[in-house]
Amino acid sequence: MMRNKILGYFLFLIGVINAESFLGYKVYQVTPQTQENAEFLQKLKYKPNYDFWVESRAFGSPSDIMVDPVEQETFEKELSQTGMPYKVVVDDVERLLQIDRVDRLMTRSRSIMGPGQVTFTSFMKYDEQMAYLRRIGRDYPQIATVTTAGHSYEGREILMVKISSGASQTVVPKPTIFIDAGIHSREWIAQPVALYLIQQLVENNTNAGMYQNVDWVIIPNLNPDGYEFTYNNNRMWRKNRRLEGNNLCYGTDLNRNFNYQWMFNGASNNSCTEIYAGPEPFSEPETRIIRDWFLNNTNANVKLYMAVHSFGEMVLFPWGYAPILPQDVATLRHVGSLMARAIEQASTMGSNYTVENSATLLGAAAGAADDWVKAVANVNLTYTLELPNGDAPFWFMIPARQILPVVRETFEGFRALHQYIQEQFWTSQQQS
Ligand SMILES: *[C@@H]1O[C@H](CO)[C@@H](O)[C@H](O)[C@H]1NC(C)=O
Ligand SMILES: *[C@@H]1O[C@H](CO)[C@@H](O)[C@H](O)[C@H]1NC(C)=O
Ligand SMILES: *[C@@H]1O[C@H](CO)[C@@H](O)[C@H](O)[C@H]1NC(C)=O
Ligand SMILES: *[C@@H]1O[C@H](CO)[C@@H](O)[C@H](O)[C@H]1NC(C)=O
Ligand SMILES: *[C@@H]1O[C@H](CO)[C@@H](O)[C@H](O)[C@H]1NC(C)=O
Ligand SMILES: [Zn+2]
Repeated sequence: MMRNKILGYFLFLIGVINAESFLGYKVYQVTPQTQENAEFLQKLKYKPNYDFWVESRAFGSPSDIMVDPVEQETFEKELSQTGMPYKVVVDDVERLLQIDRVDRLMTRSRSIMGPGQVTFTSFMKYDEQMAYLRRIGRDYPQIATVTTAGHSYEGREILMVKISSGASQTVVPKPTIFIDAGIHSREWIAQPVALYLIQQLVENNTNAGMYQNVDWVIIPNLNPDGYEFTYNNNRMWRKNRRLEGNNLCYGTDLNRNFNYQWMFNGASNNSCTEIYAGPEPFSEPETRIIRDWFLNNTNANVKLYMAVHSFGEMVLFPWGYAPILPQDVATLRHVGSLMARAIEQASTMGSNYTVENSATLLGAAAGAADDWVKAVANVNLTYTLELPNGDAPFWFMIPARQILPVVRETFEGFRALHQYIQEQFWTSQQQS
């Protein structure tokens, strides 16, 4: 134990040396009261050095914004001029990251994990996640088909799992649910939620009914380059890791890079912002994987698409590019609520979900995956899921002890989705 502690401390110091420092970065909680205030905040999203951790949902509902020390004086001056109430909720982001590193070291040293194993009591590395997927592909070949969907910019394999009890007996394939997670690398609770879904479907016999009549396609880590970077260098990294041409900054916000109303609103052409949309639609290998899968599998009968993000306890539906409601908004809202209510009922941490149109609730964001899958891949039910961030405000740095409660309750939400899709779209002739 003592040896572990000393080793842990040593690794902790190495982590500090390698990591990009957020010394002196502050998080401001700013509450817009008027339309003018809201517009002021909206403009900040287009500036480098401002990183929105929480987006205001309405007047009187706060935004949490991380601000670089170089901007803080200007920002505080501007806030005073607008008369908007604000407070500093994190005085030094680096201290928050230290807590996160210690939590990671302690929980990793406690979880015993052999090769190919999965754990939900500490955060797994990319290699460990992929080793788990390969193992279930080997151990359960009748149900789980693990394939390489493509490669990230830095050449990492992006694995995809299809879970199915066998092909449909009719020309129409079984209804399919498509899930991806981790497109924003720092949203660390998203990848475990997808891995737990896979584990519970494949390795827990009690849930075998969930893949009898409905197929699942799951990509648990769509942005591995970003994820490795959050693990080793910069815990706050959101984008991928490609440097475009003569750009000043690395990375594209993959969830602004899809080709539907690209750059219409809520996306930036400045590579140094967190919402950089890329030089053109589908400029990034990671987003092209989603595009190519849907183009390659036009007959796959996908009935529901969900992108898993954190955080905010929201089931969001299109359109995201502008506050426009699709014509099937009633169904979108209904199915989203089935998921939300199932999660709340199972929750041991008081989760309370909002089901809403994303642009209405949070402001427009064009080029997101759910808009493209709905508009271009013709899947009617498409969602962005924003998970909880635990029972204390750790923002993206949810402590490892809260992985299990979140993945468990979210699984009950997936169960509710499965039930709806089976009832609506499966016919007994498709029996395999
Ligand atoms: C298996 O699934 C059942 C039903 O969802 C659940 O009650 C049980 O805890 C699960 N077992 C494991 C080991 O995850
Ligand atoms: C980027 O967007 C800004 C603001 O919309 C615009 O003024 C500028 O011309 C654009 N720059 C490029 C290189 O497209
Ligand atoms: C799509 O099909 C092409 C051509 O067969 C293949 O190279 C590519 O890997 C496929 N991509 C996906 C994501 O299915
Ligand atoms: C969620 O919050 C709303 C509004 O504050 C409240 O009316 C509702 O009862 C809450 N639901 C749960 C399950 O806590
Ligand atoms: C989408 O919904 C419309 C209207 O209900 C329906 O006609 C269409 O077949 C649906 N498309 C898919 C792919 O399920
Ligand atoms: Zn996200």
